[in-house]
Amino acid sequence: MREALDKLFREAKEALEKLAANVDRKKLEEFRVQMLGKKSRFTELLHSLGKMPPEERREMGQMINRARQEIETALEARITAANAASRQEKLQTERIDITMPGRQAPKGGLHPLNVVLADFIDIFQSMGFDVVDGPEIETDYYNFEALNVPADHPARDMQDTFYITDTLLLRTQTSAAQIRVMETRRPPIRMICPGRVFRADEVDATHSPVFHQVEGLVVDKGVTMCDLKGVLEQFAHEIYGPETKVRFRPSFFPFTEPSVEVDVSCAACGGAGCRICKGVGWIEILGAGMVHPRVLAGCGIDPEEYAGFAFGIGLDRLTTTRYKISDIRLLFENDKRFLEQFS
Ligand code: PHE
Repeated sequence: MREALDKLFREAKEALEKLAANVDRKKLEEFRVQMLGKKSRFTELLHSLGKMPPEERREMGQMINRARQEIETALEARITAANAASRQEKLQTERIDITMPGRQAPKGGLHPLNVVLADFIDIFQSMGFDVVDGPEIETDYYNFEALNVPADHPARDMQDTFYITDTLLLRTQTSAAQIRVMETRRPPIRMICPGRVFRADEVDATHSPVFHQVEGLVVDKGVTMCDLKGVLEQFAHEIYGPETKVRFRPSFFPFTEPSVEVDVSCAACGGAGCRICKGVGWIEILGAGMVHPRVLAGCGIDPEEYAGFAFGIGLDRLTTTRYKISDIRLLFENDKRFLEQFS
């Protein structure tokens, strides 16, 4: 038995020596199972102790355990060395150069419509207007009825409407927001409402079935056409520059009386006439007027006591003229090559 132990001890040591250069942890684990595990020869030897005479049993048992212990300690040392070596290797191969420049995230930019809208909001907020939101899906009542356009009114033909049901539609004008505001707030009211509007128009360089308006509304005691003129002139000067001229032409909208259309002198040619203004020197940018007394009354505001003005500005036209964009479709196609010019 002693011989068997010696032999085993020698073999184990040799096997371990062979593994000395090996830093593979897996191999070392295999060795542990083979040599020291439950089915190993060391264990077998321990089991066979039972067959020995009792007086030798104790000494033999201690020897086996000592031998086993020694192998185990040597193995642990190898494992520690292997771990250290593999950590070192990892440190070498996974070295990070912290002086290298980082990867830049691509920079986004605002859509030109949003750039103009942000300026727009700035200008009106500085004049004391607040910004409200209105639904894009509207009822016939808010989009037409309450704006003094009853069902059979010929003015409905001015705007080709996308109907969803008999009473639901995609709003054709942000003017619908006027009613919602006047129904829920009491004067003094000073608000703008930017948003998308929809009309069944053929698409071409100046028309799109989806476009953007900004509605403005002021209601207070003693508001006159002069106030409307002052506000719009101020706005035009801030958007297009102080030398810009503003022209008011009589017009018609069912919900304003009197009504005007407002032109600004063409920023591209200064009024001399060019391709952008189609040779006339003026560009129409908005419709406006004094809120019709019937519209005020319908919202529970006494037209004897209060007066108001409203305007609706086409944001797309404002954007194309400001950036000298020749085709409105560019604003909707989201071609990155186009959009990147504004970021
Ligand atoms: N809603 C009108 C349009 O879309 C513009 C407008 C707004 C006119 C407010 C007068 C007052 O054409």
